[in-house]
Amino acid sequence: MRPPTLSLALGFALAGLVGAALTAPAEAAVVNIGHRGASGYAPEHTFASYDLALELGADYIEQDLQLTSDGVLVVLHDTTLDRTARGLPENCTGAVSSKTLAQIKTCDVGTWFNEANPTLAKPEYVGLQIPTLEEVFQRYRRRVNYYIETKAPDTADRMEERLLDLMARYRLRKPAAKRWKVLIQSFSAESLQKIHGFDPSLPLIQLELVLPGSPQLETTLDGIATYAVGVGPVYAGLTSAAVAAAHERCLDVHPYTVNTTDLMESLVDLGVDGMFTNVPDQLDVVLGDGALRGARVAREAARAHRLCVESVGIP
Ligand code: G3P
Ligand code: CA
Repeated sequence: MRPPTLSLALGFALAGLVGAALTAPAEAAVVNIGHRGASGYAPEHTFASYDLALELGADYIEQDLQLTSDGVLVVLHDTTLDRTARGLPENCTGAVSSKTLAQIKTCDVGTWFNEANPTLAKPEYVGLQIPTLEEVFQRYRRRVNYYIETKAPDTADRMEERLLDLMARYRLRKPAAKRWKVLIQSFSAESLQKIHGFDPSLPLIQLELVLPGSPQLETTLDGIATYAVGVGPVYAGLTSAAVAAAHERCLDVHPYTVNTTDLMESLVDLGVDGMFTNVPDQLDVVLGDGALRGARVAREAARAHRLCVESVGIP
């Protein structure tokens, strides 16, 4: 997180060494979030997409969570299977929440991508399965950073508890709290507040469709800062004033979903702390050779947040 506002800058100047420690490395702490993996190049939310995102320079791989009828967290963006799943209609159409894991596992989530993107199509995408979150943790362990979204949590039975249990089983909770190895995001403030209630040390990102203008902006951000470490707004219409207002409250800003280098550059200029992209290789180029990567950029973001909270005095 950068401290771009006058009030913070003055605070840091007065704080002497603390201010120096905050300003020095923060320029580089912009995180590259592989949106549904490298979903601009490979079928979203598959191991092929996650592997490619990591290969192309993503610091985080994103997971959208859905819950099966037998209580298993799976990784899929939509609440229904129809857009991306192919297979027997009784297994691969309709709501994910109405299918068992065994049914879900019969579906192919690669073929739709090949059909929709002939120039990017690959034979190995045919037959790719919807991963469970546990399979994602089993594959990547603590070698990568995860950016996990609770989707439709109001209708998914104990989605938050299941997520935290799984994180505990794969020893991800402590590194999430300390080094932001896992960021948990949601459009649902209720879901994030529930997680905050279970474990206030976990770093949470409040997603927003739009950030309001003043004075609602300040009120909204004040509320978010009571449980989250950042905000994820849609990039369109994001202003430097909104970024500065978030930073004044020690909230990182991670807009979505940014897929051109022009936009990436202008958002970096606005002072954002990261962004979701379908094309992590393009963001990697924009961030340049000197940028921190992977575990280091996550750790730096966590450190800058801690220092900011201590300086500003947020409880
Ligand atoms: O999670 C950030 C962004 O992914 C929100 O939009 O619909 O792609 O989950 P969506
Ligand atoms: Ca998402």
